[in-house]
Amino acid sequence: MSGAATVERRPRNALGQYDDLASAWWRPEGAFAALHWLAEARGRLLPPPTRRDAVLIDVGCGGGLLAPHATGYLHLGLDITWSALTTAVDHGVTAVRGDATRLPLADGCADVVVAGEILEHVRPLEAVVTELARVLRPGGTIVLDTINATGAARFALVTVAERLPGGPPPRIHDPALFVSSDRLIELFRARGIRLQLTGLRPSVRDYVRFLVDRSRPVRMLPTASVALVYQGVGVKEQP
Ligand SMILES: C[S@@+](CC[C@H](N)C(=O)[O-])C[C@H]1O[C@@H](n2cnc3c(N)ncnc32)[C@H](O)[C@@H]1O
Repeated sequence: MSGAATVERRPRNALGQYDDLASAWWRPEGAFAALHWLAEARGRLLPPPTRRDAVLIDVGCGGGLLAPHATGYLHLGLDITWSALTTAVDHGVTAVRGDATRLPLADGCADVVVAGEILEHVRPLEAVVTELARVLRPGGTIVLDTINATGAARFALVTVAERLPGGPPPRIHDPALFVSSDRLIELFRARGIRLQLTGLRPSVRDYVRFLVDRSRPVRMLPTASVALVYQGVGVKEQP
């Protein structure tokens, strides 16, 4: 019998992976490297806070990587994974444990709601969208990013990127849960929010540099195509 340690192979999208990788959240070259790049791009879409105690609810906050980009807000992070929340707290996030399909939060309590890289992990999608829209106040802003339900995304983000440095951890995604951009627009429109979508891609120059020096971040650049990773921003209609 070999003395090699047994590494548990979890199913795709198993929540236990976030516990396995808990020490990696804040390592810029680690398993969640791309989440750092995406958090910076997400931060660019946040409106400046309009009052001193403006509330930003970060649904599926993970280890709190948005914190450096959400200054000026009371940054409330909600996640289902305890190990992620304890990390987020160390970075100034006020933690709430909960499920994105049943947020333990009052209607209209948020000035800004963020859903970064969570929609492709949770079902039913309608329930999550309903909850995101419910906790956002009229006139408030939603900012999200996710992965489109396309063959191109399945190939690029699963078949290829899971094998690349800086790519998502193997099996973190279940491509069956990827989120159709057309459907997401419809779901939000039915809840009084018109989403504007933009595609995102890594800067090739930065990525080549990252391969040489893993501590340098990679800028995520806007693209016209939303076929792979895309961002959305929208304002909730006033009654
Ligand atoms: C890919 S990570 C994204 C984390 C963070 N938003 C970021 O971009 O760095 C997905 C997060 O969603 C959380 N999550 C998965 N299912 C959830 C659910 N049903 N309710 C709340 N959080 C959930 C996981 O625990 C994990 O922290």
